[in-house]
Amino acid sequence: MELLGKKIVLGITGGIAAYKAAELTRLLLKQGAEVQVVMTEAATHFVGPVTFQALSGKPVFTDQWDARMANNMAHIDLSREADLILVAPASADFLARVAQGQAGDLLTTLVLARDCPLLVAPAMNRQMWENPATQRNAATLAADGIAILGPGCGEQACGETGDGRMLEPAELLEEIIAFFQPKVLAGRKVLLTAGPTFEALDPVRGITNLSSGKMGYALARACRQAGAEVLLVSGPTGLPCPRGVVRVDVTAALEMHQAVLAKAAASDVFIGVAAVADYRPATPAERKIKKSAATMQVDLVKNPDILADVAALPKPPYCVGFAAESHDLPTYAEGKRVNKKLPLVVGNLITDGFGGDHNTVVLFDAAGAHPLPTASKAEVARAIVAAIAERLA
Ligand code: C5P
Repeated sequence: MELLGKKIVLGITGGIAAYKAAELTRLLLKQGAEVQVVMTEAATHFVGPVTFQALSGKPVFTDQWDARMANNMAHIDLSREADLILVAPASADFLARVAQGQAGDLLTTLVLARDCPLLVAPAMNRQMWENPATQRNAATLAADGIAILGPGCGEQACGETGDGRMLEPAELLEEIIAFFQPKVLAGRKVLLTAGPTFEALDPVRGITNLSSGKMGYALARACRQAGAEVLLVSGPTGLPCPRGVVRVDVTAALEMHQAVLAKAAASDVFIGVAAVADYRPATPAERKIKKSAATMQVDLVKNPDILADVAALPKPPYCVGFAAESHDLPTYAEGKRVNKKLPLVVGNLITDGFGGDHNTVVLFDAAGAHPLPTASKAEVARAIVAAIAERLA
């Protein structure tokens, strides 16, 4: 529940993307938000208010003169308690009216009378979006501090392809969750590694490990949500790249080493979350190895330690390591911190196995051990980001 207790007014204007607002309502509720839907009259031609009433569990307002508000102040009361107003889809007409400060219907009046942030997700035909008038209006809204989410590019209901698609409900949800996070890493460049590495034995086989990449991806997402520019160097995982994060896919430790060292000096923070293979086959076979012999030996050579190499740079970024141990966590984690010359190590006991959605970690720094409460990887990631930001300041 990443939006627990948040009060969101969801404004819906007239556009075919209005049907996607139903899914968005469901996603917001699933994350614990309270959603008050307000529709323009045009929006009701695309989807009926009953749909949103059923999904949100609240009456839907469409009319400024709605008699349900005892004081007839719907335009003020509906947004007074809100943490934000999100208008999705936001039509070209709606953007134009807000840019001008018009208040001809309930939604625009509500927007004009708001004392909370406003986010809009434009949705319209590509030529309507590209029209200088719409661009001018969007620029006015941005200058007024209104966040414009998207639009995305792609196929449109009219059959044309271009800019103007509303962001998908899941993308909008990510934007809303990010909106509520404190921007403690604004202006910082964060480089991370995540996932396992795969060390080839031959063209089809190799040595790898059970790292799921979930913790590293959760951290990349949390850093992005905290306002950082994030580059994620990832081993093979199959996880989707977090929104707004730039990902470089690698396979073997040597590739990961090269990709990281190319960017490390220009980064403010480096977080090594990847479970990098300690060894790789010395000479991977060029052709598939056949199973003729009863036994076989594979010579392994040591991989470079990516984290230690970054920490040894003349002007290293703030380096954070991970230590996943089966026992004696404090001794091993603190040992790694000192040996690799790291200001911070995140330690955890591998009692729950790999790949879970929760984690229990302890932070180790020069001042000692700082246990964090067991929580989802998303929450643990946020706590780690907060700890890094505090130490950077
Ligand atoms: O030494 P050990 O592998 O236990 O250290 C774990 C930490 O070091 C993790 O942060 C991991 O990402 C990093 N590491 C690395 N390159 C290696 C081995 C570990 O960056 N070759």
